[in-house]
Amino acid sequence: MVVKIAVLVSGRGSNLQAIIDSIERGYIKNAEINVVISNKADAYALERARSHGVNAVFLDPSEYDKAGYDREILNVLKRDNTDLLLLAGYFRLLGNEIIEAYRNKILNIHPSLLPAFKGLHAQKQAFEYGVKVAGCTVHFVDEGLDSGPIIIQSCVPVLQGDTEETLTDRILEKEHIIYPEAVRLFVEGKLKIEGTNVVFLN
Ligand code: GRF
Repeated sequence: MVVKIAVLVSGRGSNLQAIIDSIERGYIKNAEINVVISNKADAYALERARSHGVNAVFLDPSEYDKAGYDREILNVLKRDNTDLLLLAGYFRLLGNEIIEAYRNKILNIHPSLLPAFKGLHAQKQAFEYGVKVAGCTVHFVDEGLDSGPIIIQSCVPVLQGDTEETLTDRILEKEHIIYPEAVRLFVEGKLKIEGTNVVFLN
């Protein structure tokens, strides 16, 4: 069986690219990205998708109310028989209707070691706090903010002389490793949720 993946994006799409590359290289097998949906017309992620022959859709939030927008996303997901939904730099809160319809089938990447530094500008929050170790997290999405069961985390040192930008770049490199890895584990059916904990099968 081929796992059909949909990806929600808002911007640059470097994590989307990492996942596309992992599928093309055969690191993630038996999966395909069927659609990439953006809430921003000029998201570079849309171009990345198209250049790999992936259907790329801009859904304009100004044309719907919040519930209507999520319903429209849900229509696209159902039409494409989506099995797995990935949030990859999607800067909008996902409505409960989608979360319920895709319970335990939505993953997100967040640029901090959750549960620290939830929400926007996580790298800036970590940098300004003065932590000595930072990192990123792939987790299942639930109704809370960056709060679902954690699948993989990766950490990086915060070095003397770092700026918010150098730290952000160091974290991003790790994001591009752990997001494809988490998707691979999901696609291979190796993730089991037990309460707030994710257990790896085999
Ligand atoms: C990444 O830092 C991701 O962790 C956060 O948004 C950023 C998206 O970057 N959720 P990109 O669009 O994948 O390049």
